[in-house]
Amino acid sequence: MMYDLRAEVLKIYLKNREERDGFQYTLPSSTSYPHQWLWDSCFHAIVLTHFNVEDAKKELRGLVSGQFENGMIPHIIFRTKDWFTTDIKWGTKDTSSLTQPPLIAYAVWQIFKKDGDHAFLEEMYPQLDAFYRYLLTRDIYEHHLIGIINPDESGEDDSPRFDKELGLPPVHLSHDNNKKRFALIEKNLDWSSLEVQKRDEFFWVEDVPYNVYIVENLEILARISKELRKTEEANYFAREASSIKDAMRKYMIKDGIYWSIAGRDAHKIKIKTWAMFAPLVIGGYTESEAKNLIENFLLNKDEFLSMYPVPTTAMSEDGYHPDEFHNGPASIQPNWRGPVWMTPNWFVYRGLKRYGYNDIAEEIKNKSQDLLEKSGFREYYHPITGHGMGAEDFTWGGLVLDMAESEVESKNS
Ligand code: GLC
Repeated sequence: MMYDLRAEVLKIYLKNREERDGFQYTLPSSTSYPHQWLWDSCFHAIVLTHFNVEDAKKELRGLVSGQFENGMIPHIIFRTKDWFTTDIKWGTKDTSSLTQPPLIAYAVWQIFKKDGDHAFLEEMYPQLDAFYRYLLTRDIYEHHLIGIINPDESGEDDSPRFDKELGLPPVHLSHDNNKKRFALIEKNLDWSSLEVQKRDEFFWVEDVPYNVYIVENLEILARISKELRKTEEANYFAREASSIKDAMRKYMIKDGIYWSIAGRDAHKIKIKTWAMFAPLVIGGYTESEAKNLIENFLLNKDEFLSMYPVPTTAMSEDGYHPDEFHNGPASIQPNWRGPVWMTPNWFVYRGLKRYGYNDIAEEIKNKSQDLLEKSGFREYYHPITGHGMGAEDFTWGGLVLDMAESEVESKNS
């Protein structure tokens, strides 16, 4: 029987739907993640636009309800008392003290594209405006690049991009990685009120994907502003997006590849992860750079061309570790250190489409769907065998439906 992607996605989304505190939202996984997460909720809203825009709106209303006074939207809003609220200190009582990839403007725009509802844009505007203005203050060296203060803010918690900055070797136990990241949370609890000179003391990375998300979302916020006839704001956000895009080229490119940078000296973190493909989404590569990137990395069997692409970490990296390892209480959870996750695939898919590499994009979409068919809706998948790992009934597989049903705008539109 033909695999019914729509039906499978809907099943998971309804199963994981939750109503609490007057909000309706979706759990990334009811067994592993019983709260509301920032970028997860953006994905949920995007996927829900393919079923019911009103549910998508509800998801975002819940999300912005956690906004701080300074505009930051936290990466988790705790809505139940169980799970790691008590044993891991994510910061404040009801939410995390960190943020996460800011894809809310994108999600709002997908909703608007479906129903043209200006009232919803108006409703969300103050929160969007405050959130992106807050993020623009995360530029301590005035590079015009936005920094993260903890790997978790990237959404790729234990990516090898952050190993060196955390003082970890390429292969290490998950416990040691967690310990470093949780220690950062404590140290940075009052980050916003730290003296400027102290703000990079513990961890400061100007990450490639994070800045890509910012650029894409500021461009969209400019469109939203224009739609609401807020000309001054529209110009401001468009200008900021373009300055960040320019700064990314200035500081991050080396030999035609973007690398995240860290610290006061803006040193490049030359670890090959899917992050190098992220700038395709914002048209950040020239045509010939994109060709080189795709031919020599994406389609290279020693780097990113696995049986099931796209491995989050290149197969040639020392930190590539797609297998679980257990030795008594000691373990390595592969997480972002090689397995395939649906969000990078969704970004790479959209980036390839933008550059007209439609066949390769289709291949990524098809292989992503193969993973769902073969192994179900899991948190991540082994890039060679395709077996599922991590959380079960995980929602991000819904993005495959978005790949299948959304029109991607090409670079010149
Ligand atoms: C994991 C992922 C993170 C996600 C969260 C909830 O921590 O690394 O990106 O937001 O789970 O799904």
